[in-house]
Amino acid sequence: MEKPILDACCGARMFYFNKNDERVLFQDIRNVSTKLCDGRTFEVKPDIQADFTNMPYKDETFSMVVFDPPHLVYSHKKEPEFVDYGTLEEKTASTGYQHIKYGALYSDWPDMLTKGFVECFRVLKTGGFLIFKWNETDIKVSEILKLTPYKPIFGHISGKRSNTHWICFMKEN
Ligand SMILES: C[S@@+](CC[C@H](N)C(=O)[O-])C[C@H]1O[C@@H](n2cnc3c(N)ncnc32)[C@H](O)[C@@H]1O
Repeated sequence: MEKPILDACCGARMFYFNKNDERVLFQDIRNVSTKLCDGRTFEVKPDIQADFTNMPYKDETFSMVVFDPPHLVYSHKKEPEFVDYGTLEEKTASTGYQHIKYGALYSDWPDMLTKGFVECFRVLKTGGFLIFKWNETDIKVSEILKLTPYKPIFGHISGKRSNTHWICFMKEN
């Protein structure tokens, strides 16, 4: 069955009612299994390991795309082998738990997220919906919305600090 929904960066699928929902194609750039500092296992096991800035799907494939990219900016220089998470525990020793769970942005984040939006809208069918999630800890959502020409329809703010935004777009002709 062709899956109608793409999650472009699923991470550990934390926000799903069913982490194995058959309707969703789960993608992430990482494929890892590691232990958090409290001893719990943390796993990112996507159906497809791919980069949301260059996705391996035809134009107009999905009815819905979910896009919840990393939102925390790390000021140190971009790691040249960023996509190679083979030594995850070493790499995250200095940046910790949140880096493991959510990934990270580096100085190239505007370009990376711009390309991510372009790709998400490319693989979305006309009339389909993009569900975008953003946490404003480091970067205001208003800055992020400048990275795509598409205009959001509506949104909702949530989280303990009211800084997590859920935003819905539709791909029009
Ligand atoms: C905020 S987390 C997603 C959390 C997820 N929504 C959940 O419910 O658990 C962001 C994810 O984006 C992934 N990521 C970072 N850069 C990526 C890229 N270029 N392509 C695909 N995934 C990427 C990270 O590995 C991380 O798992």
